[in-house]
Amino acid sequence: MLTQDDIQNALKTVKYPGYSRDIVSFGLVKEISTTNDTVSVTMQLTASNPDAARQIKEDSERVLKALVGVKLVHVEVRQPAAGQAAPGALPNQNRIPGVKRVIAVASGKGGVGKSTCSVNLACALAQLGARVGLLDCDIYGPSIPLMMGVSERPTISESERLVPPVNYGVKVMSIGLLLDDGQPVIWRGPMIAKTIQQFLFAVEWGETDFLLVDLPPGTGDAQLSLCQTVPLDGGVIVTTPQEASLGVVRKGIAMFQKVNVQILGIVENMSYFTTPNGDRVEIFGHGGGRAEAARQDIPFLGEVPIFTEIREGGDCGVPVAVSAPDKPAGRAFIQIAEALRKRLG
Ligand SMILES: Nc1ncnc2c1ncn2[C@@H]1O[C@H](COP(=O)(O)OP(=O)(O)OP(=O)(O)O)[C@@H](O)[C@H]1O
Ligand SMILES: [Mg+2]
Repeated sequence: MLTQDDIQNALKTVKYPGYSRDIVSFGLVKEISTTNDTVSVTMQLTASNPDAARQIKEDSERVLKALVGVKLVHVEVRQPAAGQAAPGALPNQNRIPGVKRVIAVASGKGGVGKSTCSVNLACALAQLGARVGLLDCDIYGPSIPLMMGVSERPTISESERLVPPVNYGVKVMSIGLLLDDGQPVIWRGPMIAKTIQQFLFAVEWGETDFLLVDLPPGTGDAQLSLCQTVPLDGGVIVTTPQEASLGVVRKGIAMFQKVNVQILGIVENMSYFTTPNGDRVEIFGHGGGRAEAARQDIPFLGEVPIFTEIREGGDCGVPVAVSAPDKPAGRAFIQIAEALRKRLG
């Protein structure tokens, strides 16, 4: 006689298409019933995605039919109507007490300046008077501590929670603050998920208007864990002009859409370079971010030129939004922070 556990275990071998996590751990399986040799399973997707629904149905039917004693299998994969966000989004998601908005900064690709933008936007929002936290979700390559000029270890509060160090008015948490320099860590998917959960819920974020989350490059486990763990209030996509046209932005957009996260807009980084005598050089082309935003019908938040000061600010731990908010480089971030705040109402 088949038990619910047998069925559940079989379904645990079915991965969500494109991800390394299974459909059970994502909480998609809502109902399992068995009578004699028939198994019925109902699943609910949180975002409309006909391809994923079809794939999940096929894969689930295959593994269930392979179970001993099963003759008939019904798998129903429900999805919200196109364009309609599922209320409450995913199961197991909790809001972080005191945190008003969680915003992820992502891109489909590495090295486009996500961390630089996260750091400068966090500092810019703090300067505009908001209470801001910055969480580094890049577990393999945390760069936020260096860029924020923070190196002290978080302390532990009486209630055994991590107290994030503060710099430039921004509360900062990163795996880089907990590990010793150069210590190699081998992370597996579930550990990443667990760590990110702790960073969200076992850290004293306190009363915070914006918790910015710097994601690692790509659309893998950390990104999905985050979206599964906490309801994101929005995502910002960072791109460089030339990558914008290569579908990299679309990947980032698709990731957020898959988990029903509102896209707040695109930032075009490394937009152009101004030579010392004032000539403007468009190293990577220009305007790709704006054009792609228009094509995808999502807001364009602004562009950040290439400035040596931006890179230096990152390397020495004093972001330009802090050291030179009135110079063009700093101003670019302040303006984007203003656009972002306006978008969020
Ligand atoms: N507008 C800019 N002008 C000058 N240098 C920049 C600019 N944006 C980013 N950089 C520099 O480019 C490098 C990569 O930026 P950053 O680390 O922010 O990218 P990332 O997208 O977070 O990378 P990863 O995918 O590895 O997380 C850094 O040295 C940073 O200082
Ligand atoms: Mg980064």
